[in-house]
Amino acid sequence: MRSRRNLFSALVAAILLLVATVQPGHAEYGDVLARYVIVAHDPIADKTTTLARAIMEGTDVACPAFHQLDSDGVALGALNSTTRINPDEEAFPVTVCEAVIPAGARASVDGLPLPTLIAEPEHLVIIGDSGCFGGDAQDCQKAWPFPGIASHAAERKPDLVIHVGDWNYRGTPSTKVDGEATYNSCLPRPGRPWVNTTSGDTWQTWWQDVFQPAATLMISAPWVVLRGNHELCSRAGRGWFYLLDPHSVLLDPYRALPVCNALTVRTEAYALDIGHIRLVVMDSANACDDADFEDVASLAYQARYYARQFDHVAALARGSAKPVWLLVHHPVWSATHYTSEPGIVSLNATLQRALKQSLASSLPPSVSLVLSGHVHEFQAITFDHDRPPQLIVGNSGVALDSNLLDNPYSVEVDGEPATGLALSARTGADSFGYLDVTLAANGVMTGKLHGFQPDGRATGRVVAVCSLPVGWNGLCRLGP
Ligand SMILES: [Fe+2]
Repeated sequence: MRSRRNLFSALVAAILLLVATVQPGHAEYGDVLARYVIVAHDPIADKTTTLARAIMEGTDVACPAFHQLDSDGVALGALNSTTRINPDEEAFPVTVCEAVIPAGARASVDGLPLPTLIAEPEHLVIIGDSGCFGGDAQDCQKAWPFPGIASHAAERKPDLVIHVGDWNYRGTPSTKVDGEATYNSCLPRPGRPWVNTTSGDTWQTWWQDVFQPAATLMISAPWVVLRGNHELCSRAGRGWFYLLDPHSVLLDPYRALPVCNALTVRTEAYALDIGHIRLVVMDSANACDDADFEDVASLAYQARYYARQFDHVAALARGSAKPVWLLVHHPVWSATHYTSEPGIVSLNATLQRALKQSLASSLPPSVSLVLSGHVHEFQAITFDHDRPPQLIVGNSGVALDSNLLDNPYSVEVDGEPATGLALSARTGADSFGYLDVTLAANGVMTGKLHGFQPDGRATGRVVAVCSLPVGWNGLCRLGP
């Protein structure tokens, strides 16, 4: 009897071990490797919609069935679905399938439920810069908090998740190849070849940095997704356009999907109506940070392009009766004093110049917030006049900067006095986190920054508290 029990125990242990060690790309893992919902703009109906996606193992597989469900969860009928264009079957041995979910409807894929975009989302989770460098720069086992942050956020059952960009660090750890600079938003000097680091842009790195740690959060709520400079076509752009980009032939069959077919591939700004607020999403992946960039003509060229994007942003914002949040990966304004720099670094040079050159010359009054990532810190900045507050949530995973500025700080940013808060590695051991936001019916926002240790453990401390409209003590203040 004892030997039978031992045999049974050994069998169970073997099965558990097998389950624990299965890697993506192996048949044992199952057919649907990930399922998620992306919030998108329908350019024909000019309305906000959602795209259901499923990532399937293998490159020659049929899509699973997408169904609309009734209120009891019973399948009503199959949704039209298609496959996205695989950029490189060797690097991405998976098939991405998608379907449009009718407004407000519940849906499933392969019999598994998908999150629904509700009419008035009140509980938002904001995360950014979530990946892990790896190598000597960051220990992805012991010093990468994103898995813990994503699990904690999922337990809060949000209505919507916003990711402000820079997803895949593991596949894009460096901006150099054999001493040559990778294209990383700043155009190379004329005659100088640009190099790329696309060899790390694979399903494996996307799985490790995004889809594995965020699996539960991805089935908790629809996601608004921004593209960062780690998702440039010289870096992890192929994966971005395959896995996360919110364009689809199902929404616009008259235009080709954006793909990495050139050094700079840019997409147009679009608006999302999310209950009490409007989100205007701007693709800033190619906006060079450096004001003293060596090629003046290239910086001017980029600034002219983004000036037109700001014109478009202004038009989308002016058409809204609701408060507008501008979502743009690179902060239009930030302030960081690095130990390696003599003065304050204020990003982003291209966007600051472009905004001055745009027809609007400033953001419309309806823009109540600029929300960004990119800087590996949490920052909240307010100006005395003429500019909306700037929030930066760049502290959800990648190793943090060390900002020498005091809290709160008062400095000049882009020619204007600014007051801000900056939480970085220097501030404390729990400066990682995500912003947990509550939206009221009038667009009033309150947010709590939950603190996390580098190993992903929640400290239970609210590190900062934020509110919109901006109160007497700024956009955010240090928490209790
Ligand atoms: Fe970035």
